[in-house]
Amino acid sequence: MADTTENKMEKIVSLCKRRGFVFQGSEIYGGLRGTWDFGPLGVALNNNLKQEWWKFFVDSREDMYGLDASIIMNAQVWEASGHTGAGFCDPLVEDTTTGERYRADHLLKDIGVEAEGMTLAEIDAAIAEHKVTSPQGNQLSPARQFNLMFESHIGATAGAEGKVYLRPETAQGIFVNFKNVVDTMSPKLPFGIAQVGKAFRNEIAPREWLFRVREFEQMEIEYFVKEADWEAYFEKLRADIQAWHRHIGLSDENIREYDVPANDLAHYSKRTIDFEYNYPGKGFDELAGFAYRTDHDLRQHMEHSGVSMEYIEPDGTRYIPHVLEPSFGVGRAFTAVLCEAYTEDEMNGETRTFLRLPKHLAPYRVAVSPLLKNKPPLVEKARDVFTMLKAEFGNVAWDDNGNVGKRYRRQDEIGTPHCVVIDFDTLGEEAPEHTDTVTVRNRDTGEQERVSINDLVAYVR
Ligand code: ATP
Ligand code: GLY
Repeated sequence: MADTTENKMEKIVSLCKRRGFVFQGSEIYGGLRGTWDFGPLGVALNNNLKQEWWKFFVDSREDMYGLDASIIMNAQVWEASGHTGAGFCDPLVEDTTTGERYRADHLLKDIGVEAEGMTLAEIDAAIAEHKVTSPQGNQLSPARQFNLMFESHIGATAGAEGKVYLRPETAQGIFVNFKNVVDTMSPKLPFGIAQVGKAFRNEIAPREWLFRVREFEQMEIEYFVKEADWEAYFEKLRADIQAWHRHIGLSDENIREYDVPANDLAHYSKRTIDFEYNYPGKGFDELAGFAYRTDHDLRQHMEHSGVSMEYIEPDGTRYIPHVLEPSFGVGRAFTAVLCEAYTEDEMNGETRTFLRLPKHLAPYRVAVSPLLKNKPPLVEKARDVFTMLKAEFGNVAWDDNGNVGKRYRRQDEIGTPHCVVIDFDTLGEEAPEHTDTVTVRNRDTGEQERVSINDLVAYVR
């Protein structure tokens, strides 16, 4: 039964802090806005998500190639892609009393006015018409464009020639390596290049936990097709994205596909679908983007670098491929997975909280414990079972704190699908037919079964 209360998100954020999934960035110094750190269980869930994504979109297909490009790239990349211009800016307004900065389009959206596609003058007019103030009730400055790229300087020079940007999308690392991949791998069109990595955006108003942060990870694919084929492959990839969202346990009714209207499209796109998730207390908002980027990027890089980005068919035909781009944010997927999994139910007359995570995403696949931690034969046997499962699955928890009931609650709360308990039966001290069997308890139902140690790996799998 899904918890639909307004404060579900707060409960998830609190669980994530309490149980070591997500901490505030630089917390002991009062934090740093727009940054979050993943703790031991968060990094496990995040890694599972990224590995599953790679298996799903790269390893299980023949038309995908992997890449891991640098975060710091030559500044000309961003001139060519258009990111240094107005296309990668958000409209910024300031509270004229406190100096606090806000995204004008978000302030307008909060009162039901859609500002995407508006000019700065139109935004100012809308703010005046609707008498929009800052959240503190103060007057706002006129809107101005604010570029989201983080600047830095490379080497000893602080001048313009050493200026670099932290990449705001992993995509450009793929475009600038297009020719390298074609030359080394000789892929047949259509094919895709996939990359998982960090991206940085100096968001004006980071907010809503992992949803809008300044440093985040993306999982992106640039899929290269002939121009005439883009619509057919758009539909194919769209179905793949839908299947991926099911694979990570997101239910169809919590996903909505929003066809972005022409006046709201990014500077490079001719068609975009936002895959939105129904975040509790917030409603539908972007989870992943899927854009038809035309040949904009390859053409721009060809013009700016002077290097040909043409693909040459075996018959000698040359053309610049067109591009379809599924773009996923790891943090938003992480959040959606947790929202979907977070469940409260009644068990043995008490309310319990558990994460109904898919097995392939859970931080721990299984937990192992001896019934009593002060009985050496039980502990020894449990260590053997633990070692066996750990060799097989890797992410196996050893849990011998408190009584068994408490251990179950703890493992429920972090989404461990099964708990294995070694008891006196296992040692053959109670019923001989139970020798070398263990109790396996199911997270979702609370039911327990006796399973032979020999069958345990297959059972857990
Ligand atoms: P929004 O409209 O919410 O600002 P966006 O349209 O700018 O998002 P895209 O530019 O399409 O986002 O980025 C592709 C994906 O990268 C998004 O779907 C999201 O998952 C992720 N992403 C982008 N910006 C952020 C951010 N600041 N924090 C976390 N994830 C982000
Ligand atoms: N590469 C698409 C985006 O990050 O917006």
